[in-house]
Amino acid sequence: METLIRGIHHITLCPGGAQEDVDFFTAVLGQRLVKQTVLMDGSIPVYHFYYGNADADIGSVMTCFPYSRKPGRRGSGQISVTSYSVPEGSTEFWRDHLDRYGVEHDGIQERFGARYIRLRHPAGMSLELAESRGDTRRAWTTHEISGDAATRGFFGAVMSVRDVTEQEQFLTEALGFRKVGVDGHHHRFEIPGAEFCRTIELLHEPDLPPGSWTFGAGTTHHIAFNVETDDALLRQKALYEELGYTDASEVKDRFYFHSMYVRSPGGVLVECTANVPGGFYLDEDVDQLGRNLNLPPWYEDQRSDILAMLEPVVVPEANRPRPRNAPTGALPVAAMPIASPQNDSVVLLSRTRADFASRH
Ligand SMILES: [Fe+2]
Repeated sequence: METLIRGIHHITLCPGGAQEDVDFFTAVLGQRLVKQTVLMDGSIPVYHFYYGNADADIGSVMTCFPYSRKPGRRGSGQISVTSYSVPEGSTEFWRDHLDRYGVEHDGIQERFGARYIRLRHPAGMSLELAESRGDTRRAWTTHEISGDAATRGFFGAVMSVRDVTEQEQFLTEALGFRKVGVDGHHHRFEIPGAEFCRTIELLHEPDLPPGSWTFGAGTTHHIAFNVETDDALLRQKALYEELGYTDASEVKDRFYFHSMYVRSPGGVLVECTANVPGGFYLDEDVDQLGRNLNLPPWYEDQRSDILAMLEPVVVPEANRPRPRNAPTGALPVAAMPIASPQNDSVVLLSRTRADFASRH
């Protein structure tokens, strides 16, 4: 089938402490802190951190809501693993690097003929570093993680499901994935035509109790797939409804992009996302990404109330651009104008606007 999905856009975790999360993603995984902003839903200020590769590419960005106020429960019906693409032969480096930082991991393993290492975020979520060939996306590097080992962006993600059939139908009929193989309890699917970040696996875990759906520390909250325009978002929503997945959300204004959500039959929350032209560069220059807290314009008048309820965080030195990480001159993908016009349909955008002053 013709699909509107172009690959993974971002994946969203609920870690625990904010500084712990910043330190883990920047120092341990060598990610660039691309954006500091806040969760746009609800009435309690919660950070929203974005970590990505050197160009903040679509498909490299992990976003995190540090949610220490409440624990979540990992289980089936969730993204159980997020997998990063790393160069072939680099997993030995990563095993030693993780050991130096005391990060829990399962050693080097192999699945679908490729080596990977699975590790745990300090809040408990599982991540993988998977060797893959020919990934030309530009890595962010640190003084400890050089370009011959650094992550390029997402390789894919694993969804834990108690039953494969219904979720497989959702992936193939609603999102356009193609099944490409089975290895043990892992069923692998790919988006046709996508170059990177195109792989989803269903891990069949029939006896694993369902995980929580709420925000809660220690869980992966949702996965977002990339579509090109707002019109594609509406067409994807119409496809969901035609197939009977009637609980698709309205289109929400996330400032850097527009989003529409649906709960998939296996339990995983699935977002589709269309970038706004300018993307992450709407509110700060490329060499300033992630250095300061940016609020969406409709919250700017409440900045002092929001700041009063957030723990301060220190942006790491490794986030500051150096010559070898400097942009090459080409506009990063997230900043490129979108090929099709955004306004070929009238899209009503939904926003939440809480009164934070009343909360403290
Ligand atoms: Fe999202």
